Amino acid sequence: MKKVLLLCLSGFLFSCGNKPAPDNGSVDDGVVVVSDDETQVFVRRDVYTMAADDPVLVGYKTAIRHMQGLPDTDPTSWTFQAAIHGTYASGDNPVWNQCQHGSFFFISWHRMYLYYFERIVRKYSNNSDWALPYWNYSTATTRSIPATFRDNNGDNPLYVSQRYPSMNAGARMSDQTVSLACLEKIPFTGTPSSLESFGGQTIPAPQHFFSGRGALENVPHNQVHNAIGGWMQDPNTAAQDPIFWVHHSNIDRLWNTWISLGDGRYNTDDEVWLTTSFPFYDENGTLVELTGAEILNSVSQLDYRYESDPEDFDPESLFALNEGDERSALKMKPAMTGEEQEGKTTLAQTKDAETKFTQKPLKVNLTMETNGPAAMKRSIDTTNKDDKGVYLTIEGVKFDEMPNKSIGIFINVPEGTEPDYNSPHFVDLLTFFGVGHHGHHHGEDNGSNFVFRIDDNLTKLSELGIDISSIEVSFHLTNGVEPLEGFTEEATDADADPKGSPRFRKITIQSY
Ligand code: C2O
Repeated sequence: MKKVLLLCLSGFLFSCGNKPAPDNGSVDDGVVVVSDDETQVFVRRDVYTMAADDPVLVGYKTAIRHMQGLPDTDPTSWTFQAAIHGTYASGDNPVWNQCQHGSFFFISWHRMYLYYFERIVRKYSNNSDWALPYWNYSTATTRSIPATFRDNNGDNPLYVSQRYPSMNAGARMSDQTVSLACLEKIPFTGTPSSLESFGGQTIPAPQHFFSGRGALENVPHNQVHNAIGGWMQDPNTAAQDPIFWVHHSNIDRLWNTWISLGDGRYNTDDEVWLTTSFPFYDENGTLVELTGAEILNSVSQLDYRYESDPEDFDPESLFALNEGDERSALKMKPAMTGEEQEGKTTLAQTKDAETKFTQKPLKVNLTMETNGPAAMKRSIDTTNKDDKGVYLTIEGVKFDEMPNKSIGIFINVPEGTEPDYNSPHFVDLLTFFGVGHHGHHHGEDNGSNFVFRIDDNLTKLSELGIDISSIEVSFHLTNGVEPLEGFTEEATDADADPKGSPRFRKITIQSY
């Protein structure tokens, strides 16, 4: 394994004929041996183009029934596969509760997870061409759960009654839930606000739940989990819902989409990200492992592609792994050093006091520091920008159980107007999926911090003539689903308190 990785890291990734456990390979001491035979490339198709009797959907049902009938101890069983993501079951199988949220491992870990799940389903589907479909919800006509997953007639393993009743009745997710703004984020990782990156924060070692999520993970990923409700709302149950896998197939597809947009979009070359290996089980119930370096090219390394990938999609040609490569200049900035952190200037803040995100639009006024307004102005001066960003941090976020709502964060919404998610008042969504529970810990626990870059908002607001010399942050609860006639649900009701008492301690605005 070492040898392969060294080759990869010195820029010869193309020549690594290294594939994880293909049909004709064998695993020996963690090293995958492969023959050079041409292997079949499986095509992951759009679920919205499939009729109810499409062999992919039929095969998915066949496999789920089979997997649900296997004993929970069988690594290829439905329960075991879901437990790899997360579980409330007791027992300490080292492969359980592995899902990587809130860091740059999010994207890579879930690709690995899907890869072996797909192999297992293929085996049990009795369809040797079977590939995981994807749910592209970001079009005007595909925002409802696909019909076959909502069909409650008879014994349909794709139907899950725990979801929000309105979603199972065809309610649509809102524009904001399925926004693809994440694709505009250029760096993969490592900016002061992880939300300004596509893929999330660089961390020195895997962590089940961390707070440095990237833009893709936050929206649409987290918000779609939240909108579907039921098992999907909690990482410890999410993968039990068959919709989880078509949602993640789409998230994985968006990674390919992002890469194919070019213009400086490159995967990280962080060595920890490339070399850390994660354990899974293959379709034969054999313990296997994968590293980041082994999953970068879905076609050549994992034998699958998306129907929607551009014809000439060639992720290998895009890797910015070569020393001296001009693309290296475009590589993401590393995470901030301690010195840079110390260069932070606080412009405005609230008192340190636990505050609940409650039903009514919660409004919080920040107290400006003396230098605040002037520094803010310099940061948003488009002709003479001082090169610093302005960041809003929500500190000490905690909850007792996974909240059933997300929180829209807005700045200086005029009195008496409804918050508009398409206006420059809107900062971002604070979503809770994949954030560690902090409520039950004993002793010192500071909760999680979320950092949002706001100079763009401030610039646009001041261009509109809106006063930014004082700042009021307002929070609006949402579960990201459009109301459906005949359904009055607590979760879609913006006036009902969220579950789990989500709360924060402090808001600060800083420039650095
Ligand atoms: Cu690990 Cu969509 O979750």
